[in-house]
Amino acid sequence: MRIVLLGAPGAGKGTQAKRLAEKFDMLHLSSGDILRAEKAAGSELGKELAKYMDAGKLVPDAVVVGVMAKAISNPAASKGLLLDGFPRTVGQAKVLDAQLARFNTPLDLVVYMDVSADVVVDRICGRRSCPSCGAIYHEKYLRPKVEGACDQCSYTGQLELRRDDTEEVVLRRLDAYKAVTAPVLDYYKDAGAEKVLCVDGNRRPNEVTAEIVAQLQALAT
Ligand code: AP5
Repeated sequence: MRIVLLGAPGAGKGTQAKRLAEKFDMLHLSSGDILRAEKAAGSELGKELAKYMDAGKLVPDAVVVGVMAKAISNPAASKGLLLDGFPRTVGQAKVLDAQLARFNTPLDLVVYMDVSADVVVDRICGRRSCPSCGAIYHEKYLRPKVEGACDQCSYTGQLELRRDDTEEVVLRRLDAYKAVTAPVLDYYKDAGAEKVLCVDGNRRPNEVTAEIVAQLQALAT
């Protein structure tokens, strides 16, 4: 299966992607994680990326499509591919379609996670991540079982706040989402509405997971 998770910042794409990739044994590619790793490496490209990402602006298509095309070419993608945060512009969606067409592996489903703007700000500003394995928590909604430890790995210590997770930057990311990413949903609807699953992302994580899992199980049979 090849799946795209689409939604505003804080819609829960990363949270759901980790669960789905594990359940269905798919390669999970998060464009945000891949770009952040490049930034953390301190390369020339990483320094360039920081200018966009820390300001809540989208990284130019020319850079993102190159980075993602390489990641998607990973042979591990042949078992199944779950894309989170990519594509984020109609231009990126067209490039992805062309790449998947070359492999004769078109998208099976686009999952659009719909959330309200006030939910987005609350979720993003309370997000904390494990610096070791990247597990995602929330200071109110998804706390680790033991305070100061990660549930998923052996890390103990402080969970991290992302640099771009301030209210000011989140509002800019939301503007970019509305202007440039929201039209990607229409692009996929125009291509074939049966390929788009719209889920109410305002609900509890387990309820959202259950709805997506049911749809993916139906697709797999
Ligand atoms: P990226 O890392 O992709 O960020 P984003 O799209 O803004 O999405 P987030 O990671 O913030 O949110 P999410 O939907 O994954 O939510 P999560 O599950 O973590 O991109 C960052 C930057 O990189 C961009 O601004 C841009 O600069 C650049 N970039 C990346 N891709 C690009 C591209 N394709 N083109 C150009 N530039 C690109 O959940 C959020 C919080 O809510 C967590 O704390 C979680 O615990 C909690 N939560 C999740 N679900 C629920 C729920 N149902 N109920 C309650 N809490 C919940």
